[in-house]
Amino acid sequence: MTDLFDFHKQKRCFAVVGHPVAHSKSPQIHEDFARQCGVSLSYEAIALDPGAFEQGVRNIRAGGIAGANVTVPFKQAAWRLADKLTDRAQLAQAVNTLSFSAGDVIHGDNTDGVGLMRDIQKNLGFSCAGARVLVVGAGGAARGIFQPLLDSSPGELVIANRTLSRARELLAAFASPIGSTVCNLEDLSSTAFDLVINATAASLMGEVPNLPNGIFANGALAYDLAYADQPTPFMRWAMDAGAVRAVDGLGMLVEQAAESFWIWHQHRPQTAPVISALRSGSR
Ligand code: ATR
Repeated sequence: MTDLFDFHKQKRCFAVVGHPVAHSKSPQIHEDFARQCGVSLSYEAIALDPGAFEQGVRNIRAGGIAGANVTVPFKQAAWRLADKLTDRAQLAQAVNTLSFSAGDVIHGDNTDGVGLMRDIQKNLGFSCAGARVLVVGAGGAARGIFQPLLDSSPGELVIANRTLSRARELLAAFASPIGSTVCNLEDLSSTAFDLVINATAASLMGEVPNLPNGIFANGALAYDLAYADQPTPFMRWAMDAGAVRAVDGLGMLVEQAAESFWIWHQHRPQTAPVISALRSGSR
């Protein structure tokens, strides 16, 4: 018979669900965190059928998964599926962290925004307070980071998108905060920004948004939410166009995972060694 001690030491099972998901770094990140914190878990990448997300989630839950990270293309479907949402998930209209408690209730949270802000402000040492910030893109990724960016008190926050109406819709969802405006990509030529965040899906297709050259102020940071083993097309373009630093979203990936880890295990792992290991390719 399992005694009480063994029961508490039992492995809990987690997963990242997406399509495709085989190359996700989330399993190794969560396993590294677990080793650091002395938590016993298993974590796997599970590809779900894009036409049957809800059934897929119900199946993994019935199979004993206690929580799941959600990645492309299911974050909005996860938001619709969750029974209880945190405020930040509700604002983002996207969920990247599902928690299955006893009973039928599915909890949904979104840790992407806090992950981005920790990477930019803590890891990269860039202070957003008073900075001129440009978000390029107005899809789900941009929506997920908009409120934490606003909360960081930028001097100016501009959303530029290829399709202006989507940028307007995004801004309207956040009650038109003071100091925030929208524009087309080509209307950016008169302003220089301290931080330019690429939240478009362009990098995933090997493309760069059609941005004018003069958008980087002295000392500007360019940040691509996408990550890759090589510098992304946006990072390469940004360095040519005058950014002092260009980074990808690997740090954000690890930081959002750390926040999910906190939600599930109430442990805050150290992220720096995990980011270094991933960057050096030793993991
Ligand atoms: P996600 O959830 O990843 O944000 P999405 O909701 O489909 O995906 O949004 C994709 C974003 O990338 C949009 O802002 C899109 O611009 P449009 O709204 O004009 O479609 C932007 N995007 C994708 N490819 C782009 C490209 N080559 N150049 C500029 N913007 C691009």
